[in-house]
Amino acid sequence: MSNLALKLVILAAMRYPPALIILHWLLAALIFITFGLATLALVPAANTPAKLVPLWAHMALGLAIFLLTAARLVIRARSAKNRRPARKTPLARSRPFLAQIARPVQFLLYAASLLMSLTGVGLAWQAGYAENLRSMPANFYAFPLRAIHGTLSTLLVILVVLHLLTWVYYQFLRGENALAWIWFRPKKNG
Ligand code: HEM
Repeated sequence: MSNLALKLVILAAMRYPPALIILHWLLAALIFITFGLATLALVPAANTPAKLVPLWAHMALGLAIFLLTAARLVIRARSAKNRRPARKTPLARSRPFLAQIARPVQFLLYAASLLMSLTGVGLAWQAGYAENLRSMPANFYAFPLRAIHGTLSTLLVILVVLHLLTWVYYQFLRGENALAWIWFRPKKNG
């Protein structure tokens, strides 16, 4: 078999195209960093100009998350017909609770990520960053979207934990190499 043919077989056997795999891990890292930055450098900090740099970084990362999540959804929809039918995947065959919630949790993760970004943009707007990037309100909780953005972040954490638990279930209890589903390797029983 030629190199090209081998590459095509490997690509066809993969669960996701490379762009979706790269975006999955990039988004995971970005969400982790954006959340960590807010929790460690924004929430405990006083509202002084010293908070502006971490806040700008948080906003830029949050916007990148929005764009990349939207891009991933588009690529996912376009590539769906080339992937194996959902009912044949191990995810769909399984019945335990963690297996049943796997797919709904995936879609809620998309929704929560997009809503985090949108409420973040709305909050920044309410706080005056559209007119002046250097504005620093006395209290972000004066704006209604602050509480919604914070509550959504708790929901996002819960969804990430559930997502990780479904991975633990498939990887360790079912003994499937679930990590390979979202990595650049062919699946053995494709
Ligand atoms: C997926 C993307 C995002 C995540 C995961 C995220 C996460 C967070 C978290 C965890 C907090 C603190 C919540 C709390 O504990 O109460 C926060 C606060 C905040 N976020 Fe985001 N955020 C995202 C996107 C954005 C965007 C796009 C913007 C603006 C363009 C933004 C602006 C803010 C602001 C202004 C605060 C308030 C900071 C403070 O109270 O000192 N966020 N964000």
